[in-house]
Formats: sequence, C-alpha cells, structure tokens
Amino acid sequence: KPESIVIDGKSYETDDWTNLPSSILKLVGRNLHLNPNHPIGILNSLVKKRFGNMGYTHYDNFKPVVSKFENFDVLGFPEDHPGRSKSDTYYINKDYLLRTHTSAHEYYCFKNCETPGYFITADVYRRDEIDKTHYPGFHQMEGARIWKKDENVIETISKDLENLPTIDIIVEDTPKSYDDKTNPKQEYMSVEEVALVSRHLKRTIEILVNEVFHLGMIASKKNRNNKKIEPLKVRWVEAYFPWTAPSWEIEVFWNGEWLECCGCGLVQQQVLINSGKNEDTIGWAFGIGLDRIAMLLFGIPDIRLFWSEDDRFLKQFKEGSVNYFKPYSKYPSSKKDISFFINSGKEKGNESERGFHDNDLYEIIREVSQEDLIENVNCIDNFVHPNGKLSKCFRITYQSMDRTLTNDEVNKIHEKIKQTLAERFDITLR
Ligand code: PHE
Repeated sequence: KPESIVIDGKSYETDDWTNLPSSILKLVGRNLHLNPNHPIGILNSLVKKRFGNMGYTHYDNFKPVVSKFENFDVLGFPEDHPGRSKSDTYYINKDYLLRTHTSAHEYYCFKNCETPGYFITADVYRRDEIDKTHYPGFHQMEGARIWKKDENVIETISKDLENLPTIDIIVEDTPKSYDDKTNPKQEYMSVEEVALVSRHLKRTIEILVNEVFHLGMIASKKNRNNKKIEPLKVRWVEAYFPWTAPSWEIEVFWNGEWLECCGCGLVQQQVLINSGKNEDTIGWAFGIGLDRIAMLLFGIPDIRLFWSEDDRFLKQFKEGSVNYFKPYSKYPSSKKDISFFINSGKEKGNESERGFHDNDLYEIIREVSQEDLIENVNCIDNFVHPNGKLSKCFRITYQSMDRTLTNDEVNKIHEKIKQTLAERFDITLR
C-alpha cells in the first residue's frame, strides 16, 4: 500500500481504512456522464433539457472524493449500517472515501445552492459483486427541492404543482404507497404539507422517468417493428432511507417486469438543519441510478461496455437519441474455479467474522486482472465441512470486451488471484 494517494491533484495519507485499488482509481475522472455521445451522457442531457427551465441548478462536476461525514454521518446513517463497512465502500483513509451515492452532495447543495432545487449527476463507487449488471463504478442522478414553511406554504406548493407539465402516464395503485404506521411522516410537517410535497416529488419523478423511458420505447419499437407506443406504467412502493421520511421507490413496468429505479422521500428536518437551513424548511430528494436504465433502453448487454474505449462501442451513440446497441462479435470466454477453506473463526457463522468476505475476492480479482478481463464470478459452492471450516468455490469466467485472451494469460491471472488470496487471508486452497 502506498503512503499516500493522489486524486484530482490532492494528496491523501493512507491508513488502516485504505482499500482503494489502482484499478478503481483509474476509473475516476473518465466522466462518462459528460460525454454527449455516450449513453450515460445522453440520458444526462435529456433530463437536463427536460428540467432546464424549472428552476433547478444542474451540477455535474462534483469530484468523487467526499468525506465520511458528507457520505454517511450528516445523512443520519446509523454507525452499524452495512454501507459504512470496508467491504462495501472504497475508503481512501478513515475520513475520506469515493462517494457511494450522489446524496453525499446534499450537504453542500443545501448549504450553497441558490435556486429552490438542484440536480446532480455523477459517478459513484461501491464494492460489489461481478456480473453483467454490477460494476464498481456507476452513475446516479440526484434531485432535491425545498420550500419555506411559512403561512403561504400550502398555496405556494399547490401553485408549483399546477405548473408542473402534465404527461400521459399510468400510475398503478399500490396498497401501501402511503401508510403513516410503516412509513411515518415527520412531526414538524402537517398532513397537508406532506401530501403536497410528496405529490410534487412523485410528479417530478414521473416526468423524469417518462422522458427517459419514452425514448426507450421509441427505440424498442424501431427495434421490433412494432407500431404502438403505450403510456408508461409505474407504481410507488414504500422504502426506507436514513435521511428521508416518508420514503418511496418508483417502479417502472418494462419488458414485462417491475424495475426498481429511484429512491426518494421528504428530507429529514435534521439533515436540512445540519446543512445550515432554517428549521422551517421542507422539501424532497430523490436519487436515480442511470446505468441499469441505460442498459435497458440502449439494449446494452454488459455494464462493462460503458467503460469500453473501443470505437465499435463509442461510435454507435449520438447526442439526443436513444438507439439500440448493435452487438459486435464477442471474444471467446474460458471458465476456471477457485476452491478453498476459510481457516479462521470456525465457530462463527457470519462471513465477515470469519475474516473473509466475498467482496474481498472480487476486489483481488479486479486488482490482479487490471483490464476488465472478467465477465462474471459465481459462487458455485458454499458449505461447512465436517471439520467446522467453511468451504467455498467460485467460478470465474474470463472474457475480454476488446480481444481474445490466450490460455497462458488466463492461467497466469488465475494463479495470481489464488496466490494473492492465500497471502492476504487465512484460507487454505484446495
Ligand atoms: N442515495 C440513495 C441510493 O443510492 C437514493 C436516494 C436519494 C434516496 C435521495 C432518497 C433520497 O439508493
């Protein structure tokens, strides 16, 4: 581990918390959301344009290093929230990390933004599993809107609601879209204020998803020679986030499935106060993941493609339009297994207590195979041996987006992964 890490020209001392590998560091600064001809950038511009004249400031230049305070503490994440753990988050040191969500900028924006609302688009990072829909770097768009809770507040929000554009969308009833017992409102807001602010929030998100998915429908219609475009169908379900109450998630009906796509809620008064707002401030916030949506709308089969520098990928997309990805030939893949016993903590059931977490293996894999040579890692076996030790077997599928891998090269990487795993963790290879 180096003594310090430099990101965006700033140097950070490393410590026990540091777990940011160079393979992730090299994703930082790619700014795919700012490339107007990249699917992520195309979605970003679409939304920017749609909300351009509605009083929002659009931030898309925030740097990815934030403090632990901004990412977790100020938002009221409990101390034992799994999101805080080293197995889920890339720490630069005990105080700084790569943002795990765009909500990390709520503190700054509530403090500094001069318009009543703002949008943020940015790359975010999470240690996660490896498959076609998960990659350690992805993109989110955050939105928020506040009002002063004065004697005219009901009138003001009602007017703002009336001014929202109307759209043709089907909102399905859900039995539990609002329930004060399981999804309680905050004390300081009246029932009427909650109703109005949440209606404004939901309508805004409906406009956003409708804008994006409508273009997806046109693309998919072209793709399937199908003439009819039906209105988008969505539904609202209860959710929980430490910094909003009540909270929801919108689900969009797409290709026969309900797709969870955006968490939101009414901002906790404490978060607003922490961010320098008057205690009489009310408002909403939402956060939407862009990559999964872009994969569906553009027909992109593997999330790694977003990061590809291959012209056969990049040349397919143009500003302002959603069109289907035309697959180019895939290079051959090969599968290899790693099996081992975890030696430590044999009485303890929980994996992290055993000193090894699946994410640790994913991380080694990413570190050792620097160029995204792995398509998928699957845990194919997981059992407690009669000797009390946990035994695991992972199957790794090697496949490059950009070339054919040689046997020799794959063997070398595979051996190196095994070695590194055995060096860093108390395990025995089988
Ligand atoms: N940050 C949340 C996530 O990553 C989404 C969210 C944003 C929820 C704002 C509520 C308010 O899942």
